[in-house]
Parts: sequence; structure tokens; C-alpha cells
Amino acid sequence: MRSVIDVPDLSPEELEELMDTAEDIIANPAKYSEVCRGKKLATLFFEPSTRTRLSFEAAMYELGGNVLSVTGAGTSSAAKGESVADTAKTVSCYADIIAMRHPKEGAARVAAQNASVPVINAGDGGHCHPTQTLADLLTIRREKGGFNGLTVGLCGDLKFGRTVHSLINALSRCEGLRFVLISPEELKLPSYVKNESLKKKGIPYTQTTDLEGAIGDLDILYMTRVQRERFFNEEDYLRLKDSYILTPEKLKKARKDLCVMHPLPRVNEISVAVDDDPRACYFKQVLNGKYMRMALIMMLLKEAGRL
Ligand code: NCD
Repeated sequence: MRSVIDVPDLSPEELEELMDTAEDIIANPAKYSEVCRGKKLATLFFEPSTRTRLSFEAAMYELGGNVLSVTGAGTSSAAKGESVADTAKTVSCYADIIAMRHPKEGAARVAAQNASVPVINAGDGGHCHPTQTLADLLTIRREKGGFNGLTVGLCGDLKFGRTVHSLINALSRCEGLRFVLISPEELKLPSYVKNESLKKKGIPYTQTTDLEGAIGDLDILYMTRVQRERFFNEEDYLRLKDSYILTPEKLKKARKDLCVMHPLPRVNEISVAVDDDPRACYFKQVLNGKYMRMALIMMLLKEAGRL
């Protein structure tokens, strides 16, 4: 059964295909409004979420399908000690496809090994978040016309930020790309991501703690929140949480065609005064995420022989 747990589960050609489908949905929404009639998506969210869960659910509704939803470990049998494997087997009896978010790295993989329907990873701990990457890729393609040759700055919590890990993984397949990794010392990109996605592929990157020094070189600036829930102690979080705050003042040093992105939720990393700047793309990213999830749900249901 084909599931999408991490970015490499989709080939570069499939990513292009998903973006093309998303563009077609944007242009002709009526064409897709009955495609999933009678099909059910189960959203199993064992961690907080606003965008990702609602975006999956809105995606399924806009395809004419239905949604079954579990939110919060406390309200499901997980609270009674049920394993992820048993939950996946059970939910496969009710739903045609599952989107799952879980605080443990690897949980979605375990679910996929035990489910008899496709599983989509909607974020597993500090590991990865492939459908946020789908939203990010469509946003970059729409704003920049493509990926090759871009200088991409990623700023904030690069250690625990799963959206960063997945985005770097996807963009590392493009040509002529360069990364600027901007973070406090303690929140640098994990070495497994650096080795697998950058060093092995010979992709140029620099690491810095200085956002203002780097901003003028960037085509994309991907801001992230410091991931409070992954810290072992609150003191470290409080010390690091406001390491970077993007303001209109700092943007004066940036290119006119910079694209400012953020997976959201934002805490303090981008001042609300930036929202009116034409370079702010983070709410476009939210909408793009819904279209990409529609495209992914259709692709996986078709492959599973359920459409
Ligand atoms: C992200 C996540 O859950 O990793 N949110 C999202 O899905 N858009 C980013 C975050 O929580 O900081």
C-alpha cells in the first residue's frame, strides 16, 4: 500500500505532477467537486494543529468526500494505551485514507506498516512534515516560477523544525540551489539532515547566526517558530524564543523580490507589520497547502484502487 511518510516517498516527477494538479484545481475547482464522493478521510491528530488538520479536512470536503476525525490523544483509545499499530488497523476498517500527526518520530511509518489504506504523515515529532513541504513547493513555484538557482535562507529552530527538514530534503533535488542556515548555535540543523540532504549531494550551504547579515542575498526567507514542545526545559526555550524577529526595518536590506515564508503558527518571529508587505507569502502558503493536499489525496486513492 502506497503511503507518504517522508519526502523521498514521492519522486521529483510526482511532485511536479502534484503541483500541476493543484494548479488545475485552482483553475477549475468544479471539475473536482465530486471526485471523492462516498470516500472517507480519517484525520488522527495526537498533537495540536489548526492548519494541517483543517486543511486536510477542507481538501476532502472540496473533493466531495467525508471526514472522520480524532483530535488529541486524550479523547481516543491512545489514552487507554492502544498502540499506533492497532489504531491504524482499526481505522483502516472505517476510512479509505488516513492523515496522522503524532508526537513520536516514526509513528506515521508504524501506522503505514499496519494500515490497509494509504497513510499520510501530517508531522511526526521533530522529524518530518511532507505535506507542509508540498504547500511550500507550490508557493515557491508560483512566486518564483521554479526552483533552480535559488538562494534559500531558513531561519529559526532548524533543529526541531520538521518543516525545515522536509523542505531541505525536497529542494536538495533541484539544481544550482544554495542554502543559508540561520539559527542560534543550539538550534542548528541536525547532522543527519545536513549529511543526507546537503553534504552527500554536494549542495552549497553556509551557517550563520546573523539574519541581518544574510538577508540581502536571499530569494526565499523561510522563518520558523522555536518549537517549545520539543524542549527539555522551559529556561532554554525562554532564552531562545525571540532569537529572530523579522521587522519592516530588517526587510529594508532584502531584495525587492524576496519571498518571505513561514509554515505557521507564528509566535513572534515575524512582526505583524510585515503582513502588508507584498513579499509576505505565508498566508498564500496556507491556501496552497489545501490544493496540494487535494492533489495528494486523489493520487493516493487512485493508486490504492479506491477511486
Ligand atoms: C508546523 C508543524 O506542525 O510542524 N505547523 C504546520 O503544520 N503548519 C510548524 C510549527 O508548528 O511550527
